[in-house]
Amino acid sequence: MTKLESSLGKTDLASWRKAIETRLSHHLHPTGLAKTLPCQESLDRLWQAMAHGVLGGGKRARGLLVMASAQAVGHQPLSEGCLDVACALECIHAFSLVHDDMPCMDNDALRRGKPTVHVAFDEATALLVGDALQTLAFELVTDARGLDDSTKVQILRVLSLATGARGMAGGQAIDIHRVAQAMQQPELEEMHSLKTGALILAAAESGALLGLGFQAAESPRYASIRSFAMDLGLAFQVLDDLLDVSASTQVLGKTAGKDAQAEKPTFVKLLGIDQTQALANRLHLSAFAHIQALDEKADALRDLAHALTHRQH
Ligand code: IPE
Ligand code: IPE
Ligand code: MG
Ligand code: MG
Ligand code: MG
Repeated sequence: MTKLESSLGKTDLASWRKAIETRLSHHLHPTGLAKTLPCQESLDRLWQAMAHGVLGGGKRARGLLVMASAQAVGHQPLSEGCLDVACALECIHAFSLVHDDMPCMDNDALRRGKPTVHVAFDEATALLVGDALQTLAFELVTDARGLDDSTKVQILRVLSLATGARGMAGGQAIDIHRVAQAMQQPELEEMHSLKTGALILAAAESGALLGLGFQAAESPRYASIRSFAMDLGLAFQVLDDLLDVSASTQVLGKTAGKDAQAEKPTFVKLLGIDQTQALANRLHLSAFAHIQALDEKADALRDLAHALTHRQH
């Protein structure tokens, strides 16, 4: 048995996922709104559409990464503050999916086994759901329990950079601009690292910041976790490309075969199935190597990386 295998399987990711789910439900069903607001019906409809986009599905990879990374630096992963930061990451991710599925982007009708938000509601509502989920994420970090202000500002900065033009939005801009064009490996790596890797890196950074605060910049542990997350983030999107051709619509909960149909440049198109899988395997091993020197508190990171690189959907 390799060192990687012997360290695996100790983290109860299912119970962590459940904790994220419970906390997300709490935040997506606001109790603070008076039931007598003059336009209550329209406001309720927006919150229903937000809940549709966030709740009831999803692997919660980014939220789990916040928790695993927090644990790796000695912070309690099930603390309220950590769960709220995990929820913030999941809100930004859900926003990105709602917009990614819209007719002006990937035009997808199915997500997490349900109609996409613009199908279940309408396009204008989907746009607003994305806006509202993005700002809800920043609200959750700002209000998170038990975090000092300087840690909150650092997390907010990390999330802002990862979500905007230097991160996810930049990657999505490349994605829509390069449809039906050939892309070479360095270009594909840049696009994937931005559109998907940036938020995965931000999840790992946010979790580590919970435990390290202003000491993060000086911490070798923080640097190791960042390098780990960069490899994992790229691997995650490489495998998403692969699953699009190898898994069924039913298992994926989203329409299979869409990348080829939409003429998206992907790793499968560039390298073929076997070499794409080999690249994902290399990235997984490289991610693991970056945290090899860390103690058993990093086992949740190892478990999560293994689960995400061996996922079926
Ligand atoms: C799908 O993300 C979109 C990508 C960035 C690859 P996930 O595969 O994490 O989707 P959910 O959250 O589990 O539905
Ligand atoms: C999604 O990439 C990236 C973001 C949402 C930022 P994809 O377009 O490949 O994701 P899926 O396949 O629709 O989930
Ligand atoms: Mg897309
Ligand atoms: Mg898409
Ligand atoms: Mg995809």
